[in-house]
Amino acid sequence: LADPAFSQAVVTWQKQHGRHTLPWQNTRDAYRVWLSEIMLQQTTVAAVLSYYERFLARFPTVRDLAAAPSEDVMALWAGLGYYTRARNLHACAKRVVAEYGGEFPSDPVLLAGLPGIGRSTAAAIAAFSYGTRAAILDGNVKRVFARVFGVEGYPGEKKVEDALWLRAEALLPGDDGIEAYTQGLMDLGATLCTRSSPACERCPLAERCIARATGRTDELPVRKPK
Ligand code: ADE
Repeated sequence: LADPAFSQAVVTWQKQHGRHTLPWQNTRDAYRVWLSEIMLQQTTVAAVLSYYERFLARFPTVRDLAAAPSEDVMALWAGLGYYTRARNLHACAKRVVAEYGGEFPSDPVLLAGLPGIGRSTAAAIAAFSYGTRAAILDGNVKRVFARVFGVEGYPGEKKVEDALWLRAEALLPGDDGIEAYTQGLMDLGATLCTRSSPACERCPLAERCIARATGRTDELPVRKPK
């Protein structure tokens, strides 16, 4: 499954055409990275931007957030939706202060033990904050992999998700470039390899994409069975 040209294509594309000026980029502050990844879990970049800035202005560090009354945290989150995220966010901040001295761990396994941080979010935080080589697999990236590799079956199904994780792990770049690679996969999924009418003519993975070669971008990834 390994294929060094795959990550190289993603990294080169990210450097030329990916997003570089989002407010949570160009920082290695794990608190900022973590906050952005939680906000972005079920919410678009456009909707997150103003919330992210207000949150950081009110809670500049994880200690400020941990020490705040929950009503203040919930009030700043109001409008973003999926309020379990806000409760987990606050609980996570308290644990990072109590158990890790206010420093997010760099090991994705430890990160994934914290409230609100799943396997993919843990990998993204570790990659962006610490350069840790770890695989992400969020909804957008599942779509990219399902199409490029022609993965059949609904990705919400365990065996399909396992197959996608296997791909994600095998395709990681070597010792360099995990940040650009991780951001590149996210950017490809969000900006080119969209659910409907993907921009294959601009995609760096087009020549290796099974869905494109077989005219099946409309059918992959397979939709949730009713
Ligand atoms: N969605 C999830 N993480 C993201 C990131 N770092 N940049 C843009 N969109 C994202």
